[in-house]
Amino acid sequence: MTISFTESLNWYEKTQNIIPLASQTFSKSKMALPFKAAPLFIKYGKGAQVIDLDNNTYTDYINGLLCVSLGYQDQEVDDAIKAQLASGISFSLPHTLEAEVAELLVDLIPCAEMVRFAKNGSDVTSAAVRLARAYTGREHIAVCGYHGWQDWYIGSTTRDLGVPEATKKLTHGFTYNDISSLEAIIENHPDELAAVIMEPLNLAPPEDGFLEKVRELCSRNGIVLVFDEIITGFRYHLGGAQSYFGVTPDLATFGKGIANGMPLSAIVGRKDIMQLMNEIFFSGTFGGEALSLAAAKATISKMKKINFPAHLWHIGDYLIEQFNQVNPAPELFSIKGLAPWTFLTINQGKTSSANLIKSWIIQELCKNGILMLGTHNLSFAHQKTDIDELVQLYRSLFTRAKEYDHSGALAQHLDGHEVEAVFKVR
Ligand SMILES: Cc1ncc(COP(=O)(O)O)c(C=O)c1O
Repeated sequence: MTISFTESLNWYEKTQNIIPLASQTFSKSKMALPFKAAPLFIKYGKGAQVIDLDNNTYTDYINGLLCVSLGYQDQEVDDAIKAQLASGISFSLPHTLEAEVAELLVDLIPCAEMVRFAKNGSDVTSAAVRLARAYTGREHIAVCGYHGWQDWYIGSTTRDLGVPEATKKLTHGFTYNDISSLEAIIENHPDELAAVIMEPLNLAPPEDGFLEKVRELCSRNGIVLVFDEIITGFRYHLGGAQSYFGVTPDLATFGKGIANGMPLSAIVGRKDIMQLMNEIFFSGTFGGEALSLAAAKATISKMKKINFPAHLWHIGDYLIEQFNQVNPAPELFSIKGLAPWTFLTINQGKTSSANLIKSWIIQELCKNGILMLGTHNLSFAHQKTDIDELVQLYRSLFTRAKEYDHSGALAQHLDGHEVEAVFKVR
């Protein structure tokens, strides 16, 4: 099947002269999808479908990097945005929507006694770190997962260019489901750790009471425990992964899907810690911007009404079950994670690297009307019929990938460039 990306490539050529990488994040840049064999710009989205600049239509399993939770152009959310637009966007004093959305979060999330809003996930993970440092009078941080672009976190990854050495020394990564890796950090930095910040799960669910053990270690050592629920929030449970697993952190961060694509993030947590917001500096011109808050109010209200997590569990479980039933090459392909957010994991082949196989699979998915980066970012708009289509495609592509890999021909079938990983943290 042939598919054209001429307009995408034309715009890329123009744009990359004035915008580095022609994108605002690596994850949406030419590095993420096989360059020249995949679209580079999207112009329209409705429900679970998007249309690129060349008028190719896709079922979208990227979903704006997980910020589109209900689906593109959700009527209830869009109506709420339009209604608020008639009154104004950003004001000179707080708007009562701030209290209304804060109340929704406090009602749903176990650790939430107080709330502050911002725009990006990185804003609120950084606020959590500053609060924890202020609360404990300590400086070191332990991290597990991805927490955004700010110095304190990114200095612990391989993309650390531009981060001062002094900052890097304060952040220590530990391994999910390996409690001894966190114990070692605490032992090496006695009474120096301000916070443990972690994604409550991503690729693997917690094993052997891992989250309870982290909670206990933090309580015993006077460390503030922060769950970064920017992805897990509302997906696994309306009260976040902390409700699903029954482990309550001291602070938690939310973002991405809470306003169905409008820019809003939130830090929530224990009152005695959150009240330090009166002393520390956490500030933003757009923190109380009303369109996003109106969108969040409508999104969260709808998520409650429709039982959003139940839908994701339902179709996500169906995806796992169907995937495992039809998978013709389990030595190469598997599905990992819990149903609401799963990962297509790919092993090294006989003649091809895992990255080459991944690049070819993404290319062929594009040709067949599926946009994905390697994770299944489900929204409320995805239905079982979409999963059937995806799984049937997986079946035929996995068979072909295996054949090409065995004959050493896979690279010849890649029409574009291999995808490039930004770094590996999950
Ligand atoms: C778990 C997690 N934390 C934090 C962030 C940073 O959020 P943002 O990109 O909105 O700054 C992300 C973004 O992907 C994330 O997945």
